[in-house]
Amino acid sequence: MNKKVLISGGTGYIGSHISLQLYKLGFDVHIVDSFVNSPGKNLENLKNFSNKDKNFKNRIFINEGDIRDRKFLDELFLDISKRKEMFLAVIHLAGLKSVPESISDPLRYWDVNVNGTINLLNVMKKYNCKSIIFSSSATVYGNVKETFLREDLPCNPCNPYGETKVVIEKILSNIFTSDPDNWRICNLRYFNPVGADPSGLFGEKFSYNPSNLFPYLNLVAGGKKKYLRVFGKDWPTKDGTAIRDYIHVCDLSYGHILAMNYLLFKKSQILNLNLGTGKGTTVLELIKTFERVNNCTIKYEFEDRRPGDVSSLIADNNLSKKIFKWYPQKSIEEMCKDSWNCFIKNKYAI
Ligand code: NAD
Ligand code: WQD
Repeated sequence: MNKKVLISGGTGYIGSHISLQLYKLGFDVHIVDSFVNSPGKNLENLKNFSNKDKNFKNRIFINEGDIRDRKFLDELFLDISKRKEMFLAVIHLAGLKSVPESISDPLRYWDVNVNGTINLLNVMKKYNCKSIIFSSSATVYGNVKETFLREDLPCNPCNPYGETKVVIEKILSNIFTSDPDNWRICNLRYFNPVGADPSGLFGEKFSYNPSNLFPYLNLVAGGKKKYLRVFGKDWPTKDGTAIRDYIHVCDLSYGHILAMNYLLFKKSQILNLNLGTGKGTTVLELIKTFERVNNCTIKYEFEDRRPGDVSSLIADNNLSKKIFKWYPQKSIEEMCKDSWNCFIKNKYAI
């Protein structure tokens, strides 16, 4: 039976976790990645998994290339179609994701994220591969007053990165309208993905100057940074620090498997769905939990609010629960533990 899935950005942080789950479920995993932001160990460990397993040998196929390169994608799809097969679905994660970078270099973000997606969609259409799960983001909602964000809220992103995600969702909506009997599309809006597979084998590209909270927490715990800068202590929350909905990357990844399963067995449709736990955690609560479960001390100092930040972002995840029966399992404790485990296993700590 054909069990081929194409995963763009499949050696990145989230993509490597999805690839691993797909592989463990017996799918043939075809990865497309330019490696522009994937840690070498993700690639190495995915290859090792595949090569060491006698039963599933060569079930992970890695194709190095850029999604903006039409010829490269065309050849890949042609090769599969020559064998009278096609990908069951595409899980499309390839893209750039830094908010500050998207402000300083917007053209690069529009080119990679939007042009890259248009290119991929053109090739998918040509080979009649019309099922796609797209990595969208809670950032599409922008600055909103609601406590729990529902999928039907208007999209109002505050930065170029978020705008590229909204435009891609719009393009996907247009192509669905053009051929509603055949396209099956799911935009998954991630909240704050964190943590790592408990093996510690897969993670994010390491940076000494990360802008996100979890990599910075690890650097402080590992002695690479003196203290964590906590942006704002006057937010309207219980302890004055901002609230986010952190979601373990393994739960998030499983959401893609359920989304794909749903899309393939139901009528053609387009869906927008949040992937978050529905629970909020403040920065101070997170620091305390990280210290407790990892037996370390996190020094911190308060700074002014970071421009563009909002007080609270929590998912209303009722739709994902109802439609996919997706119930995130992992606690904030596990997120902190697995994140630190991955950090130290990769010898980033002192
Ligand atoms: P990542 O940077 O670790 O992974 C992205 C992968 O795409 C990398 O392996 C990179 O090499 C590859 N890539 C980038 N440009 C490419 C191109 N032009 N052609 C081929 N490959 C290319 O990021 P991630 O955290 O795993 O995020 C994956 C997706 O999820 C992105 O689309 C991101 O916008 C989205 N997302 C991420 C978060 C988050 O907080 N991590 C939140 C919401 C949405
Ligand atoms: C979380 C909280 C900060 C760093 C970003 C993107 C979003 C999505 C996920 C892709 C905030 C505070 C942070 C630090 C701090 N990515 N903080 N000190 O901003 O919620 O979301 O990543 O789609 O689009 O915007 O995540 O991890 O940067 O911040 O106090 O050194 O931690 O102010 O309240 P954010 P984050």
